[in-house]
Amino acid sequence: GRVAVLMGGSSSEREVSLDSGRNVLDALRARGVDAHPVDGIPALLDALVHGQFDRVFNILHGNKGGGEDGVLQGLLQGFEVPYTGSGVLGSALTMDKIRTKQVWLSAGLPTPRYRRLQAGADLRAAALALGLPVFVKPSSEGSSVGVARVETLDDIDAAIAVARGYGGEMLMEQMVIGDELTVGILGAQALPSIRIVPKGGWYDYNAKYIAEDTQYLCPGLDVAEEIAIGQLAVDAFLAAGCSGWGRVDVMRDRSSGKLLLLEVNTAPGMTSHSLVPKAARQLGISFEDLCWMILEQTL
Ligand code: DAL
Ligand code: MG
Repeated sequence: GRVAVLMGGSSSEREVSLDSGRNVLDALRARGVDAHPVDGIPALLDALVHGQFDRVFNILHGNKGGGEDGVLQGLLQGFEVPYTGSGVLGSALTMDKIRTKQVWLSAGLPTPRYRRLQAGADLRAAALALGLPVFVKPSSEGSSVGVARVETLDDIDAAIAVARGYGGEMLMEQMVIGDELTVGILGAQALPSIRIVPKGGWYDYNAKYIAEDTQYLCPGLDVAEEIAIGQLAVDAFLAAGCSGWGRVDVMRDRSSGKLLLLEVNTAPGMTSHSLVPKAARQLGISFEDLCWMILEQTL
């Protein structure tokens, strides 16, 4: 049957998604799949009304016009068209960092301390309670869009202004001093972890997609810790109601060695800089194989 590779859209991660989508499209076509690009949800719905596709490979990133927030998944359920990745619940939940943390905490899974920033919240008191430095984040963006680091109390107002620009809720999160790790999930299996070493600063949008000097170590940890992080990532993914494939971002506290869950991405990047393809390659899974294995789950 015909496969729509859904990409682009109107979220803040549009450009990343177009890059991911072209790679997926090429890979599926190289595998002989009758795959076609579709830019955004309105164009997809139009095509589905006309019966043009039998299944969807979703590589739209982000919320509000992106395909990671459950809206797309609900529409596709209505059309009875199979799609890659998580369903309505897992997508909607994990697009919301605050509620994801609440679910993890109630399941006994570790995540950095945080405050939800309600209107009128005492921001300075929150920062002091968490301990500086902290991050201020929009609850529902990706690729570090809108995230600002607060080193001193004087930085708070500027950080809030950046995050508020994206609308929606915001959180303030304790900054974990240590290693930044990520675990790709394929089916319900963890891929080897990747430890990310950005040159200077943290793994922001520039370090993710533009800089050529960000270092990636895979596997990211020694054998015993690899088993622990893989298990934690799978537990976190399943507790959040996710399925199919995705990527769980984790911090490792340098002084205690403790692992702390940051978030889940249900349509992770598939750009040449992206992480799931690197982790798959470590297991001998080529990019083409990876795309096929993700699509295969919809068959
Ligand atoms: N949100 C980006 C695409 C990622 O997690 O890879
Ligand atoms: Mg994300």
